[in-house]
Amino acid sequence: MTLNEVRHAYLEFFKAHGHTVIPSSSLVPENDPTTLFTSSGMQPLVPYLLGQPHPSGSRIADSQMSIRTGDIEEVGDNRHLTFFEMLGNWSLGDYFKQEQLPWFYEFLTSQEEGLGLDPQKIYVTTFSGDEESGMSADKEAVEIWKNIGIPDERIFSYGAKKNWWSRAGTPTQMPVGEIGGPDSEVFYDFGIPHDPAFGEKCHPNCDCGRFVEIGNSVFMQFIKNADGTFSELPKKNVDFGGGLERLTTATLLNSDSYLTDVFDSARLVLETRSAKKYPRSDLGKNDGVDTRSFRIVLDHIRAASFMIASGIKPSNTEQGYILRRIIRRAIREVDKLGIKDTVLAEVAEGFGDAYANVYPFVQESATVICDELRKEEAQFRKTLANGLRELDKMGNTVDAFMLSTTYGFPIELTAEIAKERGLSIDLDAVQKQVEEHQALSRAGAAQKFAGGLADSSEQTVKYHTAHHLILKALQMVLGPEVHQRGSNITNERLRIDFSYGQKMTPEQIAEVEKIVNEQIQKALPVEQVMMPKEEAEKIGAEHEFGAKYPDTVSVYFIGPRENAFSVEFCGGPHIENTSELIGTFKILKEEASSAGIRRIKAVLE
Ligand code: ALA
Repeated sequence: MTLNEVRHAYLEFFKAHGHTVIPSSSLVPENDPTTLFTSSGMQPLVPYLLGQPHPSGSRIADSQMSIRTGDIEEVGDNRHLTFFEMLGNWSLGDYFKQEQLPWFYEFLTSQEEGLGLDPQKIYVTTFSGDEESGMSADKEAVEIWKNIGIPDERIFSYGAKKNWWSRAGTPTQMPVGEIGGPDSEVFYDFGIPHDPAFGEKCHPNCDCGRFVEIGNSVFMQFIKNADGTFSELPKKNVDFGGGLERLTTATLLNSDSYLTDVFDSARLVLETRSAKKYPRSDLGKNDGVDTRSFRIVLDHIRAASFMIASGIKPSNTEQGYILRRIIRRAIREVDKLGIKDTVLAEVAEGFGDAYANVYPFVQESATVICDELRKEEAQFRKTLANGLRELDKMGNTVDAFMLSTTYGFPIELTAEIAKERGLSIDLDAVQKQVEEHQALSRAGAAQKFAGGLADSSEQTVKYHTAHHLILKALQMVLGPEVHQRGSNITNERLRIDFSYGQKMTPEQIAEVEKIVNEQIQKALPVEQVMMPKEEAEKIGAEHEFGAKYPDTVSVYFIGPRENAFSVEFCGGPHIENTSELIGTFKILKEEASSAGIRRIKAVLE
C-alpha cells in the first residue's frame, strides 16, 4: 500500500467506529514554548487528556506531523525518521482497553477494512509492573490479547522503560503534573534472521532489526502528584500512536521505511545523480555505508522541507539551528555519495509532489524550500571547498589535524580524499595528535578534568557540556568570584567543586537548576574555536588562574559567539547543541568539599 492509502484506511476505520477525524496540528507547537517541535500526536491534545472537553467529542482520530530530534543519531537505519506522521486515535474518557486492543488488531488484520496483515507476524507487549513506583502489571491487557487469539508465545511483558508511556519516560522520571500510563505495543515480524550480536535470543524489543514496532496503545490514566504519588485522572483515556511509514512497511513486507512510495522520486534523483543503486532487498540493520548515506539525505531533506514550509529558516538558534544541522549533515552525505554539484533542492521537489494531496503547503512553499536549500548548500559546500583547496596546497603531506582545527574540515573526509588521490594519511597518528591536543588543552585548562572524563560515552559528553552550563549558572547566582576547583564526570552524573564559602540555600539551588534548564530549552549551539591565548583571555573566557596554557588554546562557546551564555578554555569533547541534553537538570547534592570549596553532584533526569 502507499502511505496515502494506509492513512486513509486508518482514518476511515476509526470514523466507522464513531471517531471524528481532526486535521494535523502544526509542526511548531502553538502556545508551548517548552518544546521546539510537535513530537507526537499526544502533544497538542494534552489539555483534553487532562479533562477539558474537546469540541469534536470524546472519540478522535488524526494523523499528526511529528519531528523527533532525539533519534537523529539513529537515522540511517531502516526505521528511525526525523519527520514522520503518527496516526492517532483517542478516547477522551470514552472507551478503554476492551475496545482499543481488538479494534487496532482488526485494523491490522482485516482484509476489507484494514491492512490485511498476516496475524502470525503480529507480536504484542504489555506492562509487567514497576517496583520503583509501585505500579502493578497490566494483566487485563494480557487477557484481552489472549481472547483475541494471540498465543502466549507472541505476548511479551516488559517493565516501565519499555511499556510505560509519558512524555518524560518512566513513572519515576515523570515530573509533577505529567500524565502517563501503561501501554501495549504491537510489533511486526519481518522475518529477518536474528543477529546474535544483539543478544542470544530474539524478542520484540531486540534491536537486531527483525521486529519493528508498528503501534502503541497508551492507557493514559495517571497524573503525578507533588508528593511523588500518582492519582487516577478524572477520566481514563486511550492515546494510540502508530508510525505511518512503519505500518506501510508491514503492508510491503519489507522493513525499510525508505522504500515507501513518498521517497520514490527523491530516491531516484539521488540514484541518478550518484549513479548508485539503492538496495531493494530487506537487510534489516545489516546495511552498507552508501545505504545509510541515501537514507540520511532522504530523511533529512524531507524533514527540512516540512520545516521550511512551516516557516522555519536555517539559523543558529532553536528550530533554525536544528534545520541548519540536518541540512549540513545531508550535504556531507551527498558528498559521500559522490554528488559534487547542488542537488538538495532537486531532492526536495519530490516531497512536495508526494504530499500534494494531504499537505499542499509543502508544494506551495516549493520556491522558498529550494531557495533556502540552495543557499545553505552553496555556503557549506564552500567550507568543504576551502578545506579541499588547503588540501591541494599541502601536496603529499596532508595535515588532517590542521584542516580539522582551522577549517572545520572533518578528518574522515580528509582521509577519504587523500585516499582518492593516492596519498595515505596515518589516521591513528592524527587521532593521537587530536587526543594529545585535547589532553594538552585539558591539562592546560587547570586540570579541569583531573581524574579526567571517566569514559567518552555519549552521556559523559553531555554531562561535560552541562558542566559548563552549571559553572556559569553558579557564577550568575552566587557571584562572579565563583571558580571551578575540581571536576569529575561519569556517564551517570557530573560533579563540580567550586570556590564558595557558604552552604547554598534551597532557593539558590533551585535558581541554578532553572538557569541550566532554560539554556537546554533554548537549544544553544556549542562551538569550539581555536584562538591565541591572549585573545581568549581578552574575551574573558573562563579559566583557572596560575595555569599554564599553550599559545593557541581551544575555547568552547555555548550560545551564539557574539552573545554566548558560557565561554571556557576547554579541550572538549562536547555535544553540538544544548537541546541534546535530554531530561531535566537536577542538583542531587550540595555539600562542603574542603575549606572554602563546595561540591555539587547533578544529573539529567
Ligand atoms: N503517545 C504515544 C507515543 O508517542 C502513543 O508513542
